[in-house]
Order: sequence, then C-alpha cells, then structure tokens
Amino acid sequence: MKAIVTCMAVLALATGGNAIAGDAAAGKTVYNTKGCAGCHGPAAVSMLPQYPNLAGQKAQYAVLALKAYKDGQRNSTNAAAMKPMAMMLSDADMDNVAAYLESLK
Ligand code: HEC
Repeated sequence: MKAIVTCMAVLALATGGNAIAGDAAAGKTVYNTKGCAGCHGPAAVSMLPQYPNLAGQKAQYAVLALKAYKDGQRNSTNAAAMKPMAMMLSDADMDNVAAYLESLK
C-alpha cells in the first residue's frame, strides 16, 4: 500500500502540477521559423488528415509530447515525422511554442 501511494505521488509530480511558464510571443517565432507550419498549418490547424491540429492544445501536454518525441518515447511510424523537429527545440523553445499553441483558438 505504501509503495502504491509513493508511486502515485511520483506520477503526480512527473505529470502534473508544473504550469508551463512559456512566452507565447517567442513561441510564435519558434513556430514560424522552425517549419512547424509546414505540417501543422499557419494557424496550427492542419490541412492534411495525418497531421494533428495544435491550436488550443494544452501547453503542458504539448511539452510532454515534444519531449517524448525528442527522447524517443513516442516512436511510432507517424511520430517519426516529429522526432527531427523536436530535436531542434531547446526546453525553452518547447515551453514557448506550447504557450503559443495554447493561446490560439
Ligand atoms: C513533417 C511534418 C511535421 C512537422 C514539420 C512538424 N510536425 Fe508536429 N506532428 C507531426 C505529426 C505527423 C504528428 C503526430 C505524430 C504522432 O502520431 O505522435 C505531430 C505531432 C505534434 C505534436 C503532438 C500533438 C498531439 O496531439 O499529441 C506537437 C505538440 C507537435 N507536433 C508540435 C510541432 C512543432 C512545435 C513543430 C515545429 C518545431 C512541429 N510539430 C513540426 C508532423 C509534423
């Protein structure tokens, strides 16, 4: 029982609680200069069915997704398109671009 409680606390720390303090204006520059719009669309609404819409996505979720592409935890065939993109992003870039995406409708 104690182990389960400890485990849940660790999970909560790993996945919750940390608000993303990104700068949306800087994130817009990241989005528009690193080629994100090419697949996800200029307004983060994708034009192709295999690419997800990102406008309005929760910032914390987007950061977790970007980290998972970068470190290879998300490695499906479809995710292969994202790995080289995520590799180009610093942690600050991720926080900023995520704040930008969350700010979009
Ligand atoms: C070559 C096309 C391509 C480019 C360029 C691209 N992406 Fe993606 N992106 C994808 C695909 C395909 C997926 C879905 C992958 C999967 O199945 O996990 C995705 C998924 C994502 C996700 C996770 C969405 C979710 O709902 O889980 C985020 C966040 C994201 N991209 C952000 C970005 C950012 C930021 C950039 C620019 C640095 C970028 N992408 C550039 C194709 C692209």
